[in-house]
Amino acid sequence: MRAPGDGTPTLPEAASLGGHTARQLLRLCEVAGLDGSDAAAYVRVLLEALGPAAERPLDLPPPHPSFLSDDHTPVEFSLSFVPDAAPTLRVLLEPGCGAGTLARNGRAGLRFLRETARRWAFPTDRLDELEDLFFPDAPEGPLALWCALELRPGGVPRLKAYLNPAARGADRAADTVREALARLGHGRAFAALPEGDRHLFLALDLGDWDAPRVKVYLAHQNLSATEAGALCRTAGGPPAEETETFFRIASGLGHEDEADTGPGGRPTRRPVQSCHAFTETATGRPSGFTLHVPVRDYAAHDGEALTRATALLHRHGIDDGVLREATRALTARRPEDGVGLVAYLSAAHQDGHPPRVTTYLSCEAYHVRPPAPLRAGRPAVARVP
Ligand code: TRP
Repeated sequence: MRAPGDGTPTLPEAASLGGHTARQLLRLCEVAGLDGSDAAAYVRVLLEALGPAAERPLDLPPPHPSFLSDDHTPVEFSLSFVPDAAPTLRVLLEPGCGAGTLARNGRAGLRFLRETARRWAFPTDRLDELEDLFFPDAPEGPLALWCALELRPGGVPRLKAYLNPAARGADRAADTVREALARLGHGRAFAALPEGDRHLFLALDLGDWDAPRVKVYLAHQNLSATEAGALCRTAGGPPAEETETFFRIASGLGHEDEADTGPGGRPTRRPVQSCHAFTETATGRPSGFTLHVPVRDYAAHDGEALTRATALLHRHGIDDGVLREATRALTARRPEDGVGLVAYLSAAHQDGHPPRVTTYLSCEAYHVRPPAPLRAGRPAVARVP
């Protein structure tokens, strides 16, 4: 089943939020090998998700100070790579970005998610069970609801919902995550998680997944490579050295460096994030582990971030051609002329699947962060062991 209507929809002006991001999406679909009708269907979903905010001219400020991206564009793309297969294009968006308050943002987001789920006959019962925990009348925190779409060939996306554990207060975030996991049948999952500084997101797979996951994202401030290597709680790996190597290449940090300490030992950079995925309820253990490195805070410019991404892809036997083309599909600027086009680099391990390397790519609809030399003593390019 496709989204109703055929052909590419009429796009808003190029210099509008929807016009800019829809054109980026069309070009990325081509780079990722999706055909024209899939691209048209996915552009329609993107424009629908943005609603009236799609028409908003880019010379006005962003509709909402979205935490989704650094310049507050409520859309971010990602490309997920495995060896010997086409990469998967995904889009993360904030469907309630034009709704006003955080409470309305969340309700608009829920409405979009439910309508989208209904269209493709996906159940939303797992989300419905958690509504009171994540959508109180006066929500707090950095987001209300994000939605990610995996843009598969065929025009029917896979859906993911990102919920805010701090909705009922940052001090209750851990309890909220524990309760949510328990309601979903993962009563022992919370105890299986590593130590972290903050619960950032709880994500739910909705739709046509072989084994739908519930994922818990934790922030880790001042993480070292060795500590990164010790975070994984799945039974099936990856080995600590593999995560350490990924961390070193992605962050450019050496053995002795801690990830976020600037002069005086104060945290200066965005924390690294771990994500554990739970699929079965029998063992209480997670079946998936991902490390997310916000490479934009650890590189002087996107040229460097892309060099690191390439090193990681090559280690997995993956060509970097598609990634390079994708960056050109997003922006005409040179990678060296800004930092943040590559927002995150991640390595994901899910039991029974080959490891994935994912690159998160920003729209930069509103702003390009100028390149920034890193503080003295940092290697300019990751030391590849
Ligand atoms: N912008 C937020 C951050 O940097 C959230 C976010 C967007 C994010 N894309 C992500 C977090 C990819 C982890 C991975 O934290």
